[in-house]
Amino acid sequence: MRGLRIAVLASGSGTNLQSIIDAIESGILESQIVSVISNKVDAFALERARAQGIPAYYIDSKVEEYDMKLLCRLEEDEVDLIVLAGYLKIISSELIRAYRGRIINIHPSLLPKFGGKGYYGIKVHEAVLKSGEAYSGATVHFVDEGVDTGEIILQESVPVYSTDTPDILQRRVLYEVEHKILVQAIKKLEEERG
Ligand code: GRF
Repeated sequence: MRGLRIAVLASGSGTNLQSIIDAIESGILESQIVSVISNKVDAFALERARAQGIPAYYIDSKVEEYDMKLLCRLEEDEVDLIVLAGYLKIISSELIRAYRGRIINIHPSLLPKFGGKGYYGIKVHEAVLKSGEAYSGATVHFVDEGVDTGEIILQESVPVYSTDTPDILQRRVLYEVEHKILVQAIKKLEEERG
């Protein structure tokens, strides 16, 4: 089977997770999501996993053995690829070492612009509008020890309009680009590693 065993880490609503679930269901992707893990007990992403019969785990990131618990979970599930889909915890260097080249992240800007410490969620889009950029977009990249600094896999842009609010821009980037390029990036990795 050419598919990858994927763990999705998410802290929020999970629409990026849903785009992967839908792509698997429709046969676009041959991979399988073996677990969804969140550091937020009430993350809707966990509900989306449960609705699909995918094992969903809350791991409290405030406890000392958080990193070890996360690593054990991933090893137990024999994960090939970790997808950070709106995951608001910094990944430990131990985890990065263990899965170097096998952790990807979706970021809602055209990196390296508007990436790095402090640039997450709506803050990204506020900064884009404040800067007067004509375009924004999203990026899928490998995760390394930096914040949003790993090798870029795919990027796609959308226009920014003068009438945009941060919320309108966030939705355009999320629904027109993020969901699409995240699936395309996983497809690319399937083909390269299949
Ligand atoms: C997305 O905007 C993503 O780019 C960012 O966090 C958000 C996650 O949205 N990293 P969702 O939880 O997948 O709906």
